[in-house]
Amino acid sequence: MNIKLFLTNLFFFLSLLLVAQKIQITHGPYLQAMTEEGVTIVWTTNKESVSWVEIAPDGNDSFYAQERTPFYDTKHGNRVIDSLHTVRVEGLQPGTTYRYRIFSKEVLGNQGHRIMYGNIASTDVYRKKPFSFTTLNKNKSDITFKMVNDIHNRADMLSNMLRDVKRENTDLVLFNGDMVSTMTNEKVIFDGFMDSVVTLFATEVPIFYARGNHETRGAFSVKFPDYFPTTTNNLYYTFRQGPVQFIVLDGGEDKPDSDIEYSELSQFDAYRTKQQAWLKDIVETAEYKEALYRVVVIHIPPVGSTWHGTQDLQRKFLPILNSADVDIMLCGHTHNYEYIKPNNITSFPILINDNETYLDVKVNQKEMELLVKDPKGTEMHKVVIQK
Ligand SMILES: [Fe+2]
Repeated sequence: MNIKLFLTNLFFFLSLLLVAQKIQITHGPYLQAMTEEGVTIVWTTNKESVSWVEIAPDGNDSFYAQERTPFYDTKHGNRVIDSLHTVRVEGLQPGTTYRYRIFSKEVLGNQGHRIMYGNIASTDVYRKKPFSFTTLNKNKSDITFKMVNDIHNRADMLSNMLRDVKRENTDLVLFNGDMVSTMTNEKVIFDGFMDSVVTLFATEVPIFYARGNHETRGAFSVKFPDYFPTTTNNLYYTFRQGPVQFIVLDGGEDKPDSDIEYSELSQFDAYRTKQQAWLKDIVETAEYKEALYRVVVIHIPPVGSTWHGTQDLQRKFLPILNSADVDIMLCGHTHNYEYIKPNNITSFPILINDNETYLDVKVNQKEMELLVKDPKGTEMHKVVIQK
């Protein structure tokens, strides 16, 4: 090899190394735990870094018409050094649109009190429009939302179902469990469903996630809440958008905790009991009682099966919900569409969505219209709740 060729190859190799080592935003950002006053913005980088978000009011002026106050990724007062970044933004106004920009500054060294920083990765607010979001607003008269469930890593089908979602036409999207089959690692979350929805809408439309039983399985399942933070720091929580109060519950697993499939890692009976106590308090709150509509979101239906999970949900949650004026419960899990009318077990209707359809829901002051659609958008079933 002559010296010229050697130097060309060396230059090429070093350039590659430099590109490969540059800090980059690898997944996200996406919006979690949206409320009237705040939102949590989540993303990952290929390097450990400290992160922050800058917020600007909506508008066509430059993002940097003035300096923007940063919101940092912190835990207990410490700035977090990690490759997963979750920044809580607070102090916002209800029903208001904001622009945002995310930043991660690489941490090259961290010894004692000496920190060595590297480059910064950020979203582009110059050549592209900054990302935006709109906070929730309980006074909004009409809302629209979509729900998917039991996607089981079929990211292409998910993209087909949600291809039209954008901030201008959708308030929020519900993920009602089993978005993947096993939580083996971080890659599964992004390859299985999150990268697709970030490309489509999740940078600007909030996702509210009800964990399915499949998200409880796999070595990475304990990390699941880190990627999908909630306002309660639990996987059961409540939120309000327009006339609808949503309660999101976590049904846990479907078989007894001792089942060999769970390898002694399940403790869902005790977990459902803890959740039962929380639910009892929630349905007594003014926020819940004053809502025009009350929608419960849970992956496993509490009826229709003699399996232990279903029966435990029926025993623990239904006595509370049956006397809480629930308008409808939205479920998945069975991979079969079913509409269960109120009966002697449940005082409210239960809509079980299929694994190959999604819900397209429109709510106004007079009615809630729930359309069950196939991935092409063809209407398969329709349920209307009148007020
Ligand atoms: Fe399931």
